[in-house]
Amino acid sequence: MDLYEYQARDLFEKYEVPVLAGIVADTPEEVKAAAEKIGGVVVVKAQVKTGGRGKAGGVKVAKTPDEAYEAAKAILGLDIKGHVVQRVMVAAGADIAEEFYFSVLLDRANRSYLSLCSVEGGMEIEQLAVEKPEALARVEVDPLTGIDEAKAIEIARAANFPAELVEKVAAVFVKLFDVYKGEDATLVEVNPLVLTGEGDIVALDGKVSLDDNGSEVRHPEHEELEDKGAADPLEAKAKQAGLNYVKLDGQVGIIGNGAGLVMSTLDVTAYAGENHGGVKPANFLDIGGGANAQVMASGLDVILGDPQVKSVFVNVFGGITSCVAVAEGIVKALEILGDAATKPLVVRLDGNQVEEGRAILAAADHPLVTLAAGMDEGADKAAELANA
Ligand SMILES: Nc1ncnc2c1ncn2[C@@H]1O[C@H](COP(=O)(O)OP(=O)(O)O)[C@@H](O)[C@H]1O
Ligand SMILES: [Mg+2]
Repeated sequence: MDLYEYQARDLFEKYEVPVLAGIVADTPEEVKAAAEKIGGVVVVKAQVKTGGRGKAGGVKVAKTPDEAYEAAKAILGLDIKGHVVQRVMVAAGADIAEEFYFSVLLDRANRSYLSLCSVEGGMEIEQLAVEKPEALARVEVDPLTGIDEAKAIEIARAANFPAELVEKVAAVFVKLFDVYKGEDATLVEVNPLVLTGEGDIVALDGKVSLDDNGSEVRHPEHEELEDKGAADPLEAKAKQAGLNYVKLDGQVGIIGNGAGLVMSTLDVTAYAGENHGGVKPANFLDIGGGANAQVMASGLDVILGDPQVKSVFVNVFGGITSCVAVAEGIVKALEILGDAATKPLVVRLDGNQVEEGRAILAAADHPLVTLAAGMDEGADKAAELANA
């Protein structure tokens, strides 16, 4: 789960990372009141889960509460890369002398953590990495020891911080790592981390991604950070049913067992779609090992609830779960769904007890179900039906 900037700011404050006063507001009137409360120059900042808000007109300096009111009017409702601004944060204005960049993230490829750091902050990091790769330090962080003082100093030096700032920024890096570790995050990014005219180091913008796998068990309080209103309604429904579902932008609904098989099914379906009007997979859905009727019904129910879906491709490889259980699951799921099942289903079964499983589906002879002998054939048929 990605957090809003104001939520990241609050977490930073909890871990004593230096931040400025910030108050969230949903209307220009609330913004004006917040600006009065904070006093002095403030910055009105769009709260959307995307970067580059500054360039898009979503960050405005206001010298008076009335200016803040006008800034809020301009920012609320603004569309930033497809995210419509519903809420802003009124932040105290910083007197910026320099802008730096710092992040720590999960480096899956190297089974480690990685810290990225640069004295050239402010601009988007992807751009910096391309245009000035030498200005971006990459320092591996051992997950067992994390960023302690020595590591933080190593990072600051690698990023070429001037000697007199090294210890000052290093102290902040240690605290940012406390946030990363303490909250089970997969990313903590500060851009910009600034040096103020008074010589203080302050985190002016924060991006935090939390590991949902850790959250459920170790951080029940993270549930409050969830943005239920903004979540895709289908994803919310799937989550409630305990399904591993990600909405995509195509027409062929996908159900499979095992994340690897589902990923391959997405690829094969997208490929097959090229011959059928460019249809694409509509979702990722992994029903996991125990594919019983209820799970299959919940999965189909979610997928059929997507108005973009025109056909469904069920691709299951029987392992511990036999194809008999899966076939019975599909038949029962169609019974449970009744009239709610309206779109053609292509089913490919293989593996444990495949013949028996296919026989069950053949005997049921459901008008919506087509059996496919292989994965490519199934993807092709599902794409063709989606394009019909
Ligand atoms: N509280 C603040 N005081 C002064 N300037 C700010 C403040 N917050 C942001 N800025 C300026 O606006 C720029 C963009 O803001 P930022 O929060 O980084 O949004 P984004 O990364 O989405 O563009 C920053 O690089 C900084 O120069
Ligand atoms: Mg930023």
